Amino acid sequence: MGGYLVLSEKQIPMKNLTSLIGCSNAMILDLVSHSIRIKANPGNYSDVLHNKSLLMIFEKPSLRTRVSFQVGMHQLGGHSIVLETKDTPFREKESIADTAKASSRYVDIIMARLFKQEDIEEMAENAAVPVINGLTDTFHPCQVLSDMLTIYEKKGKLKGLKLCFVGDGNNNITHDLLLGCSAAGINISVGCPDEAKPQEWIAEIAKKKSEETGSAVEVTNDAFKAAQDADIVYADTWMSYHVPKDEKERRIKMFQPYQVNRKLMSSAKDDAIFMNCLPAMRGYEQTADVIDGPQSVVFDQAENRLHMQKAIMLKLLGKL
Ligand code: CP
Ligand code: NVA
Repeated sequence: MGGYLVLSEKQIPMKNLTSLIGCSNAMILDLVSHSIRIKANPGNYSDVLHNKSLLMIFEKPSLRTRVSFQVGMHQLGGHSIVLETKDTPFREKESIADTAKASSRYVDIIMARLFKQEDIEEMAENAAVPVINGLTDTFHPCQVLSDMLTIYEKKGKLKGLKLCFVGDGNNNITHDLLLGCSAAGINISVGCPDEAKPQEWIAEIAKKKSEETGSAVEVTNDAFKAAQDADIVYADTWMSYHVPKDEKERRIKMFQPYQVNRKLMSSAKDDAIFMNCLPAMRGYEQTADVIDGPQSVVFDQAENRLHMQKAIMLKLLGKL
């Protein structure tokens, strides 16, 4: 582990986690360092959330987010409830505000996976308890925070590394990687087609953060330029949960030049790691030899969702 990552002396409070827009370098280091401690000594935290309840609301499918939050809450001594919105009055008979207000009378913390970012923001504004974004079309902060833990474990530092993301630039993972990397001082290069660039307002916030941490933000349509000398090469699905299925053929053609294959990996550093938040489709955003090869850390990434989820819940409930 790099020597600079020490637990902060002062507590850095967090009310909600809806995106990484407001996330500073200190907040990332704080959560990464706490998650390292939680991962190393899970038994020390087994009763910290005794009698606490987590409500999880899903408008989209999930494996990792659902299971890691549920197991994480259980391992912290608490309890969790899963609601699929199709089984509730959500939207059709009950507003997001009323859902948030009523749920706050029962549970201590809410995690929701919704389509629209404005909906999770509305939930956070109306809930009396902390609200966590478990993925919207625009952001996926829990994933990128746990990716910071994985990168730190693999590389021993964050600041000064280069992360290359190739594929869909207008994507929740890409957006929070832009915000998280720039805040952590990681140079980020996004290689994507001109018609699938990151949303401009998010790239602008990332550029401002990067000026503070002395890192660089680049968006290019040249996948090989993006991957040049990268320490981390990151891919995500070309068919995010919210993308209509009839767009598949068009998107395969559009993103094919951005596939992570052995040739693209050879542009990165020899010791580069390959990341994908999963779920992944072999033969699409990456070839099987890359995701199943020695540079891939995708299942460490999946595991670290559990440890970071615990740190996020403990932080939001004022226990860290
Ligand atoms: N990476 C991730 O969030 O996976 P799920 O969609 O399975 O939760
Ligand atoms: N961009 C992907 C992330 C999945 C965890 C999606 O939204 O489906």
